[in-house]
Amino acid sequence: MGLSDKKKKKSPFSVVEDPKTLHKNLEFTATEQYKLLRTNLDFTLPEGEKCPVIGVTSSVRSEGKSTTSVNLAYVLAERGSRVLLIDGDLRIPSIARKMQIDNSPGLTDLLMGRGSQMGEFQSSILKNWFILPSGNIPPNPSELLGSRRMETVLKGLKEVFNYIIIDLPPVNIVSDALSVASMISGMIVVIREDYTEKKDVERCFRQLSLSNVKILGCVINGAKLEGGSYGKYKKYKYYKYYRYERDSGDKRSRK
Ligand SMILES: Nc1ncnc2c1ncn2[C@@H]1O[C@H](COP(=O)(O)OP(=O)(O)O)[C@@H](O)[C@H]1O
Ligand SMILES: [Mg+2]
Repeated sequence: MGLSDKKKKKSPFSVVEDPKTLHKNLEFTATEQYKLLRTNLDFTLPEGEKCPVIGVTSSVRSEGKSTTSVNLAYVLAERGSRVLLIDGDLRIPSIARKMQIDNSPGLTDLLMGRGSQMGEFQSSILKNWFILPSGNIPPNPSELLGSRRMETVLKGLKEVFNYIIIDLPPVNIVSDALSVASMISGMIVVIREDYTEKKDVERCFRQLSLSNVKILGCVINGAKLEGGSYGKYKKYKYYKYYRYERDSGDKRSRK
């Protein structure tokens, strides 16, 4: 990213570049925001669902979907749940690189019926955290993600996990995220502050709404924190979590 080593070390995102120190590297305010996201999910997820499947998407690229997916999966697993993180970006997968694992075998292998043991995907960080990379990039990602086979695979996985997080491509660029709409409990939408354009956010929500996706919340990535009681952490930008009320108007959000 062209940052100096010193600056890199201070970034909350060094967490995904150096998975071995994930729990140590994530700075206090960032960790707290992810925990808040975790708590808020408890309220927005459909009650009584055995294994919620949470999609993570955004309107365009580089808003922080994969970063959010990794860190959300981590805080959920840290609480003791059995969590599976799936790289569902079959066009530009990044979870394997971020977590420094092989990208194959992965999701596409499961979808092609090339069975793999889930034990292969256990992370070295937490024993109850499993990471399924994309596998080899297929020629037809959208069809694969929306296939009956994907439904079957997810159904099987739901039997053995408490949470499944799927990192998806951006809604305004390709239809892949919408292809899984009917298979997920809901979607988290990442919006990057000072980056994402309003018209793109609007388009994204319109598309999700047309596909009847339940919006579980928005992560405002890079949001400035109000207050300032965090002392030295104040100057860093982390995340804010908003509940998104789909039925009460697209743009209304509350903390
Ligand atoms: N708030 C942030 N501050 C600094 N860097 C960030 C932030 N969010 C994401 N990044 C970096 O931006 C790049 C894109 O993030 P990523 O999560 O891969 O986006 P996406 O999956 O939406 O394309 C990555 O290099 C990531 O480390
Ligand atoms: Mg990504």
